[in-house]
Amino acid sequence: MGRKKGNGPERRDRKRRDVGEERRGPAAFDRFYSELLGDRWNTLRPCLRDSGRPVALEAGLLRPYYLDDASVTAAQALGVQGGDTVLDMCAAPGGKTLVLATAAGPGGTVVANERSAARRARLIRVLDEHLPPDIRERVTVTGHDARRWGLHERERYDRVLLDAPCSSEAHVLGSQQHLDRWSPARTRQLAVQAHAMLAAAVDAVKPEGYVLYSTCAVSPLENDGVIERLLKRRSGVVAVCRAQAPWGEPTVHGWEIMPDRAEGRGPIFFALLRRAPFVKASHS
Ligand SMILES: C[S@@+](CC[C@H](N)C(=O)[O-])C[C@H]1O[C@@H](n2cnc3c(N)ncnc32)[C@H](O)[C@@H]1O
Repeated sequence: MGRKKGNGPERRDRKRRDVGEERRGPAAFDRFYSELLGDRWNTLRPCLRDSGRPVALEAGLLRPYYLDDASVTAAQALGVQGGDTVLDMCAAPGGKTLVLATAAGPGGTVVANERSAARRARLIRVLDEHLPPDIRERVTVTGHDARRWGLHERERYDRVLLDAPCSSEAHVLGSQQHLDRWSPARTRQLAVQAHAMLAAAVDAVKPEGYVLYSTCAVSPLENDGVIERLLKRRSGVVAVCRAQAPWGEPTVHGWEIMPDRAEGRGPIFFALLRRAPFVKASHS
């Protein structure tokens, strides 16, 4: 039996064309997020434009670095300890790398990876200007594609941070050009890419090691959706550990700090995963 003709997304798309609804641009953006988040979108949307509550990160640094309070909270949720071997898969501009490197201390090592050459240059500048020499010399900067990390190293790190490239709706709302170009394909494609990166992060961590997945997306497809997919495909290889923070609220698999309910902090989502002991991760 074939699929019934004209059902599902195609039928919805045709209906939208019939009633003159656009699939791109500001109206499509608002419709998509209203459908995903319901009434919450009405309170969240106005708070996204001026979101983020910058704090000075100072402890253990040569000079302060300013970043959103929620970003510090997310990086700390990975629980890096002195002496840990740490991978930061998508590191530029480097705020979270500073949190990880100071926690790992001079006895630890950090690999800070960033694929974009321009952003990698900025990352190096941030590390050089803020980290004391005994910690800076323990941080290596690389330029690999995070999705293909398994080709380089497997089961090597105590802790891995994947702060994935995401929809970043707060930035979309701040740019007419980005709003005009927006389509629902954006969050779906980014979710697929994030899943590939997260699978590589799981391969890179040692058995019993931890992976923290984070995004600044509001779209649940890129947050709980990515974790959900990983848990299905890597069943028995990873387990979710309950992450907590002083602000925000729990989600199905993680924690989110959204500016409408956290005094302007965020948006950020994070979920902490632990790799099972002595189980080989397989590709999916
Ligand atoms: C959300 S930002 C990271 C922010 C950073 N963790 C911080 O706190 O400062 C995501 C980064 O991933 C980089 N990126 C995008 N695709 C990548 C890939 N395939 N491999 C590695 N890095 C990638 C982007 O250039 C961007 O700098």
